[in-house]
Parts: sequence; structure tokens; C-alpha cells
Amino acid sequence: GEAGDHAAPQVRRPVATVGVVGTGTMASGIVQVFAQSGYDVVVVGRAQEKLDAVVTGIARSLERAIAKGRSDEATKQAVLGRITTATGREALAAADLVVEAIAEDLAIKAELFTDLDRICKPGAILATTTSSMPITELATVTGRPQDVIGMHFFNPAPVMKLVEVVTTEHTADHVDETVKALCAKTGKVAVSCGDRSGFIVNALLFPYLNDAVRLAESGVDLTAIDAAIKERAGFPMGPFELLDVVGNDVSLAIQQELHREFGEPGFKPAATLEAKVAAGELGRKTGRGFHTYA
Ligand code: CAA
Repeated sequence: GEAGDHAAPQVRRPVATVGVVGTGTMASGIVQVFAQSGYDVVVVGRAQEKLDAVVTGIARSLERAIAKGRSDEATKQAVLGRITTATGREALAAADLVVEAIAEDLAIKAELFTDLDRICKPGAILATTTSSMPITELATVTGRPQDVIGMHFFNPAPVMKLVEVVTTEHTADHVDETVKALCAKTGKVAVSCGDRSGFIVNALLFPYLNDAVRLAESGVDLTAIDAAIKERAGFPMGPFELLDVVGNDVSLAIQQELHREFGEPGFKPAATLEAKVAAGELGRKTGRGFHTYA
């Protein structure tokens, strides 16, 4: 009944500097989100040329915004000025929040979280944007599982407003609350979610995407499926356009996890999805997926 019951989440742990680990599509979008919202961002990747490509990509995105009259050169310079890059993880020592957006591979992520535990300052929030790995397993490789949380952004991160905030049984309430407050500060809408396969959105979305691939395998033209869904179902993209945005490798990992967890025969990844990944046709990021891009 008190007004305070509905008070907006507060930042319980001060966050000024955000570390982002990774140089892929999600990492790049997340860097942009935080830098645009006034945070200093340290991006850590293995190769300087990939780090440079992240900064170039963000600069290009900001230039598109200027061309559309939605931004200006001073804003662009300010945003870029907040971004620093490093090939060594030690650069994360000063971060108040680290968001991991590296390969969807549990061993690789666990190795990173072991390092973050060693490097990051006490009280730093350690977030993962995984869409298919159990976050509890990442939390428990650290000596501070209370500080580990999921921040599941959607692609393209600068545009999509939803963030699934995924708590494990170990996550501290003030970490959960701080992350939700940060989502609001960056213009995102946080939805709470437990650490279950697919969280909320992917548990509903990926069986549909997998069925779309099966439908195409049965002989229906995939361009017709895309057109039908966009025209009739109110989705901004058809399933194959969306698979190409998400990346077929990421989609396959999610679909495999849902199949492993829930065991439903219908959740078995469609053969064509596996074949696309094997062929390196991952979607927009490789220029070819279900559709071909210039
Ligand atoms: N980075 C930054 N800005 C981008 C962008 C990007 N990658 N892509 C598009 N935008 C911006 C554009 O600049 C444009 O901004 P303004 O309107 O302010 O000028 C705006 O977004 C709209 O873009 P467009 O006009 O170019 O194109 P559109 O209207 O067709 O929208 C879209 C593009 C936003 C991607 C839209 O098609 C869409 O919402 N698609 C569905 C995306 C979706 O469902 N994503 C979730 C996938 S599931 C997932 O990610 C979870 C997982 O775990 C895998």
C-alpha cells in the first residue's frame, strides 16, 4: 500500500565505469548503450584490430544518427571519448560493472569468470549476456556468486529496449536492484527472470524459429514465410530475417540448450540450421545466412 512499495529500483552500488568483454555484435551494441548513457566504458578483446572495429562500428552508427538529424558531432565525440580499449583483462580492475559478451561456450566463459574474480575490485557486479548458458555455473566458479547476474540484451542492443535480468539463487538483492536501475538509466526496460533455459523470450521465440526452418525444409519458400509473418503477425521481421540478425551459431546454441533441458522432440535443432552453421553461413555478420547480404 505505501508509495515506497512501488519505488523505482535504486543504484545500490555506484557504477561509473563499465567493462565489456568481447568484440562481437552484442559486445559492440552494449558498449554503445553504456557510452551513450554517459558511462566510461573499457572494452576488452583479444585482438586490437577487433577492438578498433568495435569503435569504428559505433562511430558509423553515431554518424548515421547525425545524418538523420538525431545527433551531432559533439555528442559523437563525447560518446567515443568515453570508450577505451584493452587487450589485457587487467584493464577491468577499475570497472564497477563488467558485462561479458564472449563466445557461447561454458568452458570459455568459466575461464573468464575465474579471471574476473581475480581481477575485479570487491563489490564489482559481474554480468553475463549469455542467452544459452546456465548463469549459476558461472557464478559458482567465482568466490563471489552474490555479485554475478545475467543481463540478457537483445540484438540490435542499441535499439531493443528489453533486458532480461537473470538472477540465480545466489544473486544479492542489491545487485539485482542496481542492475535494474542501470537498465532504466540506459533507456532499457528490465524484466526479472530466473536462471532457466531460454529465460522468457527465447523459451518462446526459438521453438517458433526452429519450426520456421522445418517449414522451409518441407518445401515452403522461406521468403514467403518471412513475408507472411511480417504482413500478418505484426512481427517487424520474418523468422529467417531474424535468424540472420541473431546469428545462426547463437540460435543453434540456444536451440540445443532448450532441447537438452526440456527434451521435447520438436525442440531438436532443424537440420538446415545445423548445416548453415557448419557451412559458416551465420547470418548478417558473415554476409550470408538464410538470406544473402551485400
Ligand atoms: N545499431 C544501432 N541502431 C540500429 C541498428 C543497429 N544495429 N539497427 C537499426 N538501428 C536503428 C536505426 O538507426 C533506426 O533508428 P531511427 O529510427 O532512430 O533512425 C532504427 O533502429 C530502425 O531501424 P531501420 O529503420 O533501419 O529498420 P527497421 O525499422 O526495420 O528496424 C530493427 C530494424 C529495429 C532491427 C527491427 O527490424 C526489429 O525490431 N527487428 C526484430 C529484432 C528482434 O526481434 N531482436 C531480438 C532477437 S532475439 C535475441 O536477440 C535474443 C537472443 O538471445 C539471441
